[in-house]
Amino acid sequence: MSLLADYLANIKPSATVGISDKARALKAAGRDIISLSQGEPDFDTPEHIKEAAIRAIREGRASKYTAVDGLAELKQAVAAKFKRENGLDYKTSQITVSAGGKQVLYNAFMATLNPGDEVIIPAPYWVSYPDMVLLAGGKPVEVVCGMDKGFKITPEALERAITAKTKWFLLNSPSNPTGAAYTRAELRALADVLLRHPHVHVMTDDMYEHLIYDSFVFTTPAQVEPALYPRTLTVNGVSKAYCMTGWRIGYAGGPEPLIKAMAMIQSQSTTNPAAASQWAAVEALNGPQDFIPKHNKIFQERRDLVVSMLNQANGIKCPTPEGAFYVYPSCAGTMGKTTPTGKTLASDEDFVTELLEQEGVAVVHGSAFGLGPAFRISYATKNEDLEEACRRIQRFCGNLK
Ligand SMILES: Cc1ncc(COP(=O)(O)O)c(C=O)c1O
Repeated sequence: MSLLADYLANIKPSATVGISDKARALKAAGRDIISLSQGEPDFDTPEHIKEAAIRAIREGRASKYTAVDGLAELKQAVAAKFKRENGLDYKTSQITVSAGGKQVLYNAFMATLNPGDEVIIPAPYWVSYPDMVLLAGGKPVEVVCGMDKGFKITPEALERAITAKTKWFLLNSPSNPTGAAYTRAELRALADVLLRHPHVHVMTDDMYEHLIYDSFVFTTPAQVEPALYPRTLTVNGVSKAYCMTGWRIGYAGGPEPLIKAMAMIQSQSTTNPAAASQWAAVEALNGPQDFIPKHNKIFQERRDLVVSMLNQANGIKCPTPEGAFYVYPSCAGTMGKTTPTGKTLASDEDFVTELLEQEGVAVVHGSAFGLGPAFRISYATKNEDLEEACRRIQRFCGNLK
């Protein structure tokens, strides 16, 4: 009898972590590697947020368990954020806090999926979604949204994907891995479909809400269509906009029975997220927000640099995304070509493997996100490295025959 559970046969480790590990190993072996595979800002957590955590530790407010799904102070800060930034009214009893947005999503699937329940996931998607759904016993239903559709699901495609077994429609805007974000009009059109199917719930992952460029206006489904509010879980967190990936705090607002069920699952797994991190998150949400536009200005410059340089590489086509810190270029124009070392590129996985081997640039293959041949670049890296990496990609593509 195997020690490991049968269901693990369907689950794969995160591809993004896999590439980062490979890049790290090559670096440790002395190779000159530029990694554009990481999904986190290169900026450090702002000082006032760090100080809030240090104060909480010194004052003995971080030594003990807190309420399972978050300090009252943090739930109040989250409720105030939803009101201030999204026009959404959530009582603190409708708010949950977990160890990162990832745990929020995981709790939500564990709390709601019966065997065979379907979750509609537009592809390309964040790598963890389908595996989380599988872990919870559900069935991921991937809907491919190509570059020609701006990587966004259309109302027609959503309508076609809905069945009697659909439990959730999972939306992620701005998106990891494409950076695509939905306008209010696009969300309105999707909401019209959802209004015709009252059994479908909406899980919206707004993790990159603040990372938007060119005066794009962020909106979230429950804000666009108040009739969706009772069946929407609005997920967010401090990881990306506040440069706090290491602190592990995510949160959500939603219907009270769901929030209670999620807290019950958390009470039997990890209990509360680290208290010091929660105090840091209180400060992140209530404190000054002025560093966010400053970071965005830098991210936007980097995005424009990367898009422009990639579009000068043979066989690469890179659209300009609305948000997040990723670009998702197609490498279809390089498929079937051969490297100077004699390797023919048959897939985007070949493309990224050869790029890493030959030029020391780590990116993630698009097929890991459900749409290839393409690759994802994270531009949350300093400008010199981005420029050098794009030069190497141009050289790599230029050398293909
Ligand atoms: C789309 C998306 N959702 C959720 C998360 C999880 O964030 P956290 O680090 O808060 O768990 C990530 C992190 O990469 C993400 O890209």
